[in-house]
Amino acid sequence: MIKRVLSGMRPTGNLHLGHLKGALENWQLLQDKYECLYMIADWHALMSEYASSKDLAENTYQMILDWLACGINPEKSIIFCQSKVFSHAELYLLLSIITPLGWLERNPTYKEQIKELQNLDLSTHGFLGYPILQAGDILLYKATIVPIGVDQLPHLELTREIARRFNHFYKKTFEPPEALLTETSKLPGIDGRKMSKSYNNAIFIQDSEDATEKKIRAMITDPARIHPTDKGHPDVCNIFSFQVAFNLKRAKEIELLCQEGRIGCVTCKNELSSCINIALKEIREKRKVLEQDRKYLSDILSEGNKKASKIAGETMAEIREKVGFYQ
Ligand code: TRP
Ligand code: SF4
Repeated sequence: MIKRVLSGMRPTGNLHLGHLKGALENWQLLQDKYECLYMIADWHALMSEYASSKDLAENTYQMILDWLACGINPEKSIIFCQSKVFSHAELYLLLSIITPLGWLERNPTYKEQIKELQNLDLSTHGFLGYPILQAGDILLYKATIVPIGVDQLPHLELTREIARRFNHFYKKTFEPPEALLTETSKLPGIDGRKMSKSYNNAIFIQDSEDATEKKIRAMITDPARIHPTDKGHPDVCNIFSFQVAFNLKRAKEIELLCQEGRIGCVTCKNELSSCINIALKEIREKRKVLEQDRKYLSDILSEGNKKASKIAGETMAEIREKVGFYQ
């Protein structure tokens, strides 16, 4: 049987180059090998944004736009919205009943997010249960391959434990899924921290060519370099990480030129900006076209929601029976 892939993203704003390199390029390749489900995790977004949720619907549209523009293909993959497939909420309740609190309290991602996102009150029941909802997302479709970044590994480990616990109490139903790690997820933001909308350091997929150039121009390079002839250290330079991601063919040579003081940072940045802009040209154009047609986007979503609901409904029926509910 062809293996099933499931992954998701929270619709919290426009996607950036980190999403492109860390997830979407990989999602696109998987479409030709597996049956892929790509989910807009709006319930997950609500768990942290519940106090200001008015942009959820708009963010959902913007995210689909970015996905489609980057080559996620509705003819190959099921693109759907979590809140529209009601089984997610149902399985979440069931799994929350069997998941020990200690497993959730130990989750390192949980502890880290509480610390990092101090502007939000995340001391809620729902947020503690975030990984249970995620486990449900995966198990509902019996997906066995889950493309994620390393930050999501603890959630996948919990999914595997929850799957085993379900199998133990009821009948064997789920195969514990495997993570598919994306190697290139280390793209820094323009300030050197992880690229993230909330750090205000991102280059967005839909940024204009000028805006992209400006952001690159403002980036700090190897601080030891004052003159273009100073010997540089590409290994500590953020521009160089981008060169590897967007200009791989020339990266080796740029590394040498920089180490020998034979290329200036301005030249290096100009070359990078044009590589990024070339790589994104088609994507940006496609996005502009798609943006005009909301109806097309909502049709794709309703189609995906329908297909996902069918699979999810079948799994839920099996689960209800195994748990022993009145049929
Ligand atoms: N928690 C994931 C993130 O923030 C998003 C997500 C929700 C997800 N459900 C999922 C990822 C299921 C993989 C599988 O990135
Ligand atoms: Fe970084 Fe390029 Fe400058 Fe070297 S030449 S320090 S890689 S920007």
